[in-house]
Amino acid sequence: MEETPPPYDMIILGASGFTGKYVLKEALKFLRSSSSPSSSSPLKSIAIAGRNPAKLAQSLSWATHPNPPPQIPILTSDTSDFSSLLYVTSLTRLVLNCVGPFRLHGDPVVRACVQNGTDYLDICGEPEFMEKMEVEYHDQAIDKGCLVVSACGFDSVPAELGFMFNSRQFDIPNSVEAYLSLESDKKIVGNFATYESAVLGVANANVLRQLRKSRPKRPRPQIPGPPPPKGPTIEQKKELGLWAVRLPSADSAVVRRTLSILSANPSGLPGVNESADHIKKREAFWSTVKPAHFGVKIGTKSFLGILRLIAVGLFIGLLGNFSFGRWLLLKFPSFFTLGWFRKKGPTEDEVSSASFKMWFVGHGFSDSSTASLGNKKPDTQIVTRVTGPEIGYITTPIILVQCALITLSQRVDLPKGGVYPPGIVFGPTDLQERLQQNGISFDLISKA
Ligand SMILES: NC(=O)c1ccc[n+]([C@@H]2O[C@H](COP(=O)([O-])OP(=O)(O)OC[C@H]3O[C@@H](n4cnc5c(N)ncnc54)[C@H](OP(=O)(O)O)[C@@H]3O)[C@@H](O)[C@H]2O)c1
Repeated sequence: MEETPPPYDMIILGASGFTGKYVLKEALKFLRSSSSPSSSSPLKSIAIAGRNPAKLAQSLSWATHPNPPPQIPILTSDTSDFSSLLYVTSLTRLVLNCVGPFRLHGDPVVRACVQNGTDYLDICGEPEFMEKMEVEYHDQAIDKGCLVVSACGFDSVPAELGFMFNSRQFDIPNSVEAYLSLESDKKIVGNFATYESAVLGVANANVLRQLRKSRPKRPRPQIPGPPPPKGPTIEQKKELGLWAVRLPSADSAVVRRTLSILSANPSGLPGVNESADHIKKREAFWSTVKPAHFGVKIGTKSFLGILRLIAVGLFIGLLGNFSFGRWLLLKFPSFFTLGWFRKKGPTEDEVSSASFKMWFVGHGFSDSSTASLGNKKPDTQIVTRVTGPEIGYITTPIILVQCALITLSQRVDLPKGGVYPPGIVFGPTDLQERLQQNGISFDLISKA
């Protein structure tokens, strides 16, 4: 007998949050309604969930303003009440989790999804959470046939797809360095929860180190040529007009996970019920993605800007290590980040005026004989770029919603189940084209 499908295609958990309400607004653009029944969107029904129904209703009004809110079911679920999570996650094919910091709230949501065999995507940027979920739930998720994919937001899809886009331009890449530049006519501001996640990440850096040590070594991709030199702490990248320092974001760890899975599965991960055509497409795609060393830097146009970034990094790095320091950091976010993070988050104006550019500077070899000469330096440089609107509340919802639409419409082509980074799951799909259509561009800038 056929199982009855759950009532909702998708549930957004945490839709009352700063990011959650923008995710809801983005998702509603793709909801097939009685007024657009012929739309090709796979999203026919949606519900929102969280711990405070009144706040969820406010989000819904905000997301559809000035139009009246549509009839969207509002479900109550608190991450500290596992039975409420089990119930809500049983009502849908796919959960989009916007409740963070994920280290505090994410585990029971993943557990509930895995128990119910419900697909799960989130916007986490915390490597420790992602890697813990892999350890705890990967095998169960395979058994239950559900996907658990974190980092389906600005962390870390532009890095994953941007890396692949750059590496695919080469015959033999050696390294790709990403340079992130945030731009705005107004102030660049992030909401408190992202800052809190970063502070807690610093406080628990040791836990992540221990977790990695306790696990069997991941397969390492074979990269031709020597690793790139370390370079100075502050780099002046004249061709991009930027001063840059290393950004300790989740991106490099996420890209490394994808490359490591790829080196164990050179044709990528088979879809649960994919067609012969899709098998060909997937194998062709992965045959063009080559591993390379990868790192991410953040850049600013002025030297003073880079000193400000270093000052904030030092505050968080030093004070984040002990409890009174953390209390200070979390009590006065605006002071310790020089205004970059606020308890109330950015204004709508600040969100709509911001944008990002992420440059990928790849180095590689023009032919395999040079590459095989042990320590010969790369002789080719290819620069590509990913650009888009504000990172946290515009780009992140666009990415999450497109990943969701792919999950709903192309499920047969995606792996049966497991806990994965986004690149290995969505790399061979049409995610890049979809992002392009929604304002996130991938461009080849130069080859030298
Ligand atoms: N990947 C990226 O690039 C990216 C971009 C943006 C944000 N993020 C991440 O997304 C997360 C959320 O950020 P945000 O700025 O939206 O935070 P936020 O405004 O504080 O929203 C948090 C959401 O979680 C809900 N929540 C908190 N505790 C809960 C509980 N016990 N049970 C159920 N729901 C609970 C909140 O509900 P109430 O409304 O009832 O308080 C709210 O809906 C953070 O971890 C942030 O780092 C990532």
